[in-house]
Amino acid sequence: MSQYNHRKYTKIATIDKQDRRWPNRTIDVSPLWCSVDLRDGNQALIDPMTPSQKLDMFEMLVAVGFKHIEVGFPAASQTDFDFVRKLIVENRVPEDVTIQVLTQARKELIERTYESLKGAANAIVHVYNSTSTVQREHVFKLTKDEIKQIAINGAKWVKQGAENQPETNWQFQYSPESFTGTEIDYSVEVCNAVLDVWKPTKANKAILNLPATVEVATPNVYADQIEWFCDHINNRESVIVSLHTHNDRGCGVAASELGVLAGADRVEGTLLGNGERTGNMDIVTMAMNLYSAGVDPNLDFSIMDRIIHVVEKCTQLKVHPRHPYAGELVFAAFSGSHQDAINKCLSIYEQDSTWEVAYLPIDPRDLGRDYQEVIRINSQSGKGGVAYVLEQEHGIKMPRWLQVDFSPIVQAEAENTEAEVSPDQIAELFNATYLEANKSMVLNGYQVNRSDGVERFEAGFTHNGVEHQLSGEGRGVLEAFISSLSDLLGKNLVIIEYNEHTLGHSDGSEAMTYVQLSIDAKRVCGAGKSRDILGASLAAILNAVARAH
Ligand code: KIV
Ligand code: ZN
Repeated sequence: MSQYNHRKYTKIATIDKQDRRWPNRTIDVSPLWCSVDLRDGNQALIDPMTPSQKLDMFEMLVAVGFKHIEVGFPAASQTDFDFVRKLIVENRVPEDVTIQVLTQARKELIERTYESLKGAANAIVHVYNSTSTVQREHVFKLTKDEIKQIAINGAKWVKQGAENQPETNWQFQYSPESFTGTEIDYSVEVCNAVLDVWKPTKANKAILNLPATVEVATPNVYADQIEWFCDHINNRESVIVSLHTHNDRGCGVAASELGVLAGADRVEGTLLGNGERTGNMDIVTMAMNLYSAGVDPNLDFSIMDRIIHVVEKCTQLKVHPRHPYAGELVFAAFSGSHQDAINKCLSIYEQDSTWEVAYLPIDPRDLGRDYQEVIRINSQSGKGGVAYVLEQEHGIKMPRWLQVDFSPIVQAEAENTEAEVSPDQIAELFNATYLEANKSMVLNGYQVNRSDGVERFEAGFTHNGVEHQLSGEGRGVLEAFISSLSDLLGKNLVIIEYNEHTLGHSDGSEAMTYVQLSIDAKRVCGAGKSRDILGASLAAILNAVARAH
């Protein structure tokens, strides 16, 4: 037998359920959110947040739109106690926001918790005890009835505390900690016992929060547990069923999503998933998943840069560049075919129309990001991406035939430097290759005369420091110029492609011209920029000729 012994782990326990409804549902309405950044998130940090960091985090959570915010565990930490007092005494909690605090189901801790909340307008008191088989049998060594009694006692002391401070609008929350490791019928039994004490009503509902304290099963098992719970709990209409998932198997968001399908009303989590071990459920991801499916999440993540700044400062943890929705690279496309597709879709996308852009699940601008950050150039990139960057950042609209010519030049640069090529580097490369190739030829003024439908081009011309006279005829000025150059250089020059546009929209804007010449049957591209189109075209031709040399 292998040393690496999977047999020491047990199979995932499932619920025998024949009436499963959640797989056929979709989430059409956002759940109520509760941020636990300042409690669960904070408890998991190497260095817990300082009071000023807590305040920054709280204000940012309010700005995002959270209505329930768990602000600490005041009976367990003096910093948390002081922070709760500060919020209340300094009147920092908006009217439509309810602060929540956690306490164990112990009398002295519950009393201290109420002390911290004196003077609050609204507050949720969140009481918990562990109910799982492992905790009962190995940690507490107590029977099911004894564990249930802990919950009942906690519920009584919570109720008592509220009665002693009637000036506050109270709501009660109970968590059977390690709910997912608890027999489902026993979880319901304990929660019903708590409800018997609290006697919630439709007008003042109790919150029953069902934690996957450690994620040990696939998300469908959690969904079954939630659906079973919702079907069997007493007085369901007076209960808010809340989810609290952790991410040990990497499925914290999926579990909460399926839990909402299974009937839950509320979801607890943290911004960007900080929390014990692998973290809490990431509310940014779950809310943005809803948003990208056309559901209003009632949270506003357009201030994503501020969120990242505050979260990184408070947690001292860097957001991963590939973190869903928030990471630096999550909208970036390096691959040529992806860039091409994005470029095509974005060029026909009209503001606020239905979002149909290949490779971009949502509009990056909804998170305060720019399209400019979408297409990034390295050795994997293609012509579409390079064209997009030059147009977006420098107004250069390369025709397709020039894109084909320029793309390998950028690719070679990326390969040589073994690095990403920035928009400015791409522009420098473009200028050096096409706009500034000609160092040896100068037109010293020119004249154009037209008679009988024929253009005649005459100019003084310096080539490698030697003076010449140019003279040629054609059906157009450029043809006449090309003909004069052909004669002087002794080469066969033909214009194969020609495009032009203005750079910018003002009267003083410059003209940009692109040409592809055949020079003795070899194709060469050039570009020219000038105040007038003819000047730009002549410069483009000279740049192409210079490149052929
Ligand atoms: O993960 C958990 O079980 C908790 C409870 C205290 C709600 O954080
Ligand atoms: Zn937790």
